[in-house]
Amino acid sequence: MPKLTFPENFWWGAATSGPQSEGRFHKKHANMFDYFYEIKPEVFYKHQGPDTASNFYNDYKEDIRLMKSAGLKVVRTSIQWSRLIDDLEKNTVNDEAVKFYNAVIDEFLAQGITPMMNLHHFDLPVELYHKYGGWESKYVVDLYAGFAEQCFKLFGDRVKFWFTHNEPLVVVEGEYLFEFHYPQKVDGLAAVQVAYNLQLASSKAIASYRSLNLDGKIGVILNLTPPYPATDEKEDVRASEIADLWLNRLYMDASVKGEFPQELVEILEGEQALWQATEEELAIIKNNTVDLLGINFYHPNRVERPKYSPNSLAVDFMPDKFWRDYEKASVRMNVDKGWEIYPRAVYDIAKDIQENYGNIDWFMSENGMGVSNEERYMNASGVIEDDYRIQFIKEHLYWLHQAMEEGSNCLGYHLWTPIDCWSWMNAYRNRYGLISTNIHTQEKTLKKSAHWFKQLSDTNAFEL
Ligand code: BG6
Repeated sequence: MPKLTFPENFWWGAATSGPQSEGRFHKKHANMFDYFYEIKPEVFYKHQGPDTASNFYNDYKEDIRLMKSAGLKVVRTSIQWSRLIDDLEKNTVNDEAVKFYNAVIDEFLAQGITPMMNLHHFDLPVELYHKYGGWESKYVVDLYAGFAEQCFKLFGDRVKFWFTHNEPLVVVEGEYLFEFHYPQKVDGLAAVQVAYNLQLASSKAIASYRSLNLDGKIGVILNLTPPYPATDEKEDVRASEIADLWLNRLYMDASVKGEFPQELVEILEGEQALWQATEEELAIIKNNTVDLLGINFYHPNRVERPKYSPNSLAVDFMPDKFWRDYEKASVRMNVDKGWEIYPRAVYDIAKDIQENYGNIDWFMSENGMGVSNEERYMNASGVIEDDYRIQFIKEHLYWLHQAMEEGSNCLGYHLWTPIDCWSWMNAYRNRYGLISTNIHTQEKTLKKSAHWFKQLSDTNAFEL
């Protein structure tokens, strides 16, 4: 069997987030999802909300010990703005939350795991939406930069890797286009402004981090869904180029090069849909690019020409005519999730970073396989035999390895997620973890994939 070997110190890890793992215990403010669940529990799978999540708030010591047993050398989670900050406008901190995050960070370090902290994972404090329009407001952007600064000052002595957002595109799509996140608005112009404001927020947080002269790195986590034209016909090819600009290049270019793709700006201008920006803000974006990128990859898009107006981006912002039309199934599907499995995209992403983004340092910050009813794979000793997940990881690593052989600066591979956790409207439906959680008893057990991952991380190698 051929064996693939990865560099020493490769970041074998996994990612989770505060709102999906901690539970709402002792949290002063509600975030967007806490509130969404309060007003519309019926939209969540089996009406299950984020109250307990995977109980990390209470179980963090044991959870981190299990993460170590699964071979994780690096773990990303997030600090919840709605937990850490006491007075959202005065930006004062909540002492109990500071104690909690300090304890978590110290425990990771004590177990020899490098903690990475993200500052926004779809969890804006909802009051800031109700009072100011959330990410539509530049005042909220400034409040966010203040929260980020608090985090750097409190924890930056021990946390050496920071991320400003997880998947800003999902906020834009979920909140302002496709109605899958609260406030379920459908508003193309607001979507464009929010995309810009999220970028500005990221750049302002980076500026604040740099001004503190801390010894660490800061980046952003972007979900890339490489668009492949569904056919070779020029209308589909053009549609996929436009999708690429809006889905990927907007954030990639702004984060790494400090400017938005000119072609996208022109299309938006042509539709009188361009964001409101000042020269001063654009200079902040220009001067505060990332040190590294985290890339989440789950599935590619097979892009077909829009059914309505082949070249117009603005038309595609209309709710009933949007990208969902574009996403075409193909041969191999992750059946439970309805996402196509296409590991080669990892190679394409890596090459794109190498060729178009100065081969900047990056790592796979999420990749994973969501499986529903995973209990059906449990053996008599209570261990989930998830050979399909091991196979999924191997196939993605194969292409990552190939790109690294060709010079890609990939520093690590993180699975979503260490421990089965709560996930937005899907609640506990799709299980992604290396470690299972019984949501009734909170009992946690290493899956077969966790043992395999430990070996992978111990040896930096696996057999195909
Ligand atoms: C990622 C998000 O895009 O997808 C995670 O960063 C999320 O927060 C994951 O949990 C899986 O989503 P889902 O809905 O299948 O559980």
